Amino acid sequence: MTSQIDHLLNETRRFAPSAEFAENAVASGELYAEAGADREAFWGRQARELLDWQTPFTQVLDWTNPPFAQWFADGTLNVAYNCLDRHVAAGNGDRVALLWEGEPGDERRITYAELTDEVKRLANVLTGLGIVAGDRVAIYLPMIPEAIAAMLAVARLGAIHSVVFGGFSADSLRSRIDDAGAKLVITADGGYRKGKVSALKPAVDLALADRNGSGVQETVEHVLVVRRGGNDVDWTEGRDIWWHDAVPAASAEHEAEAFPAENPLFILYTSGTTGKPKGILHTSGGYLTQVAATHRNVFDLHPESDVYWCTADVGWITGHSYVAYGPLANGATQVLYEGTPDSPHPGRWWEIIQKYGVTIFYTAPTAIRSFMKIGRQVPAQFDLTSLRVLGSVGEPINPEAWVWYRSVIGADRTPIVDTWWQTETGAIMISALPGVTETKPGSAQVPQPGITIDVVDESGTHVGNGNGGLLVVTEPWPSMLRGIWGDPERFVETYWEKFADRGYYFAGDGARLDEDGDIWLLGRVDDVMNVSGHRLSTAEIESALVANEAVAEAAVVGASDETTGQAVVAFVIIKENYLKQHSPEGLVSSLRGWVGEQIGPIARPRDVYIVGELPKTRSGKIMRRLLRDVAEGREVGDTTTLADTMVMSVISAQVK
Ligand code: PRX
Repeated sequence: MTSQIDHLLNETRRFAPSAEFAENAVASGELYAEAGADREAFWGRQARELLDWQTPFTQVLDWTNPPFAQWFADGTLNVAYNCLDRHVAAGNGDRVALLWEGEPGDERRITYAELTDEVKRLANVLTGLGIVAGDRVAIYLPMIPEAIAAMLAVARLGAIHSVVFGGFSADSLRSRIDDAGAKLVITADGGYRKGKVSALKPAVDLALADRNGSGVQETVEHVLVVRRGGNDVDWTEGRDIWWHDAVPAASAEHEAEAFPAENPLFILYTSGTTGKPKGILHTSGGYLTQVAATHRNVFDLHPESDVYWCTADVGWITGHSYVAYGPLANGATQVLYEGTPDSPHPGRWWEIIQKYGVTIFYTAPTAIRSFMKIGRQVPAQFDLTSLRVLGSVGEPINPEAWVWYRSVIGADRTPIVDTWWQTETGAIMISALPGVTETKPGSAQVPQPGITIDVVDESGTHVGNGNGGLLVVTEPWPSMLRGIWGDPERFVETYWEKFADRGYYFAGDGARLDEDGDIWLLGRVDDVMNVSGHRLSTAEIESALVANEAVAEAAVVGASDETTGQAVVAFVIIKENYLKQHSPEGLVSSLRGWVGEQIGPIARPRDVYIVGELPKTRSGKIMRRLLRDVAEGREVGDTTTLADTMVMSVISAQVK
């Protein structure tokens, strides 16, 4: 089998940055030349200029024991000091760090001086609870300022945090606490979601209790609890501590100790396609360098004037790198929002942008497509003219969604940066630079300065422009994962074995280089289908479907087929107004024809199912594996990682 992924969709629209934007942009095209001439010197300069080091490093990269890299290894620094104290010392203590908006509409403005003070007190509390460098602390909180403070206080002590998304169940929490051997859990009574308090502390109690014969959890000594939801909670004397009792009473004097650059910073669990979650391990100096550099360059951050908002939860990597560490290392002012986009009304996000004058906005294609489904009349009610850069992350963004984002949210004016990266890469790897790159809707475009990417065939050979294949990173990068917690073999096997002879990192994504060499992501390689010997990408057929004016969202899978090997099966969500005006049969047949016209007869779906929802993980990714089960008439597999576990039974019923 060839690894070539056939490319059939053609996108010719182009958007160059305005002269005015380019003139004031923080990143210029010279960065590529600098990094191209001497990659390590480039990263060395970034690390020195963007961060404060207690002990300067003398070596940038040690790659003598691949795939275990060491960056800036003999340098020492404190990550929290770099995100907090130094901004205060530089006279920016009064700058707002967090513009926090609770879902019920309560708000808090927290300056760098105030956040520094809170983190120092919390660091003293944690020390009092016996937390020292290297210990693991689980954080299970809603999107409240205490979540950021907790991450930074753990980092300040050289300890390791493991943030577990607040939507995960007691079982998921337990397995993550066990795997990391956490000593402390930081949680809240509850947080607001969709107009109601959603409890958290009861899930922690359950997680620490005897779970189906697992025995009582043994490594956790204390549970520190923030009061947010106001809901009643059970209390375990001696173990549980209220944040509001402990933190304000602690001293605000705390000297940040410097740790080696390779000191572990956090573990973040990511679900692989199979098997138990992987604890992705990140360390300090290289990680902070690359998140700070990319946050500044990709979003064109001017910290003194911008108001930045990334909608990701801190429970995901995007929340780690582009809510917590990148923006704070750069001294940015940012919005932090607790709730869901549609609570209490569908324009809540746009209202927040208007209220705080957000200038840089970073969100996921799933969210953009769900706004497309409701229609442009909702954002049109708000003043979005403060926006000047829009970002996208998490999935391929279909050209139609890209163009909608730019035109409806960005008033046909703002550059869009489609950023490709992963939990494992730690920071953005592929993206336009908004003042430099002429953008193409649907393309993530070019590797960041200092990052080397290729698209190769199964043997590791470069496929050449105009061809598709497998995405690889060819050289180590500062924010790369350093391993899988407790499982070095799985680390090597999952990411490095496939191209071991070349030393490439295998990302698991399919990609295509266009005639100019720009990169187009084609979806996870596991999702690629083979129709009559042609390898077709899910992303391209989905993009063609979303380009039809009736379609809001689409997911495509390959189902086994006697004649063609696999056949294209599409699941689509139709926009509300079209559903009222057209018959389902008419829509199905016109969509099959449409894909045939847009891409070619080979891609015409055998079946099109109109559904009300698609199965998504809690971070918004479509779980095509489950749709494949339905399309092939199998029992639907494990649905526990779905945001809404009912979705699959509804879809199965609809398909029958
Ligand atoms: O398949 C790619 C997709 O998301 C995967 C990484 O997921 P996760 O570790 O949860 O991190 C998401 C946030 C960084 C990738 O392997 N992905 C992420 N960004 C993009 C993307 N696919 C296409 N375009 C993107 N911009």
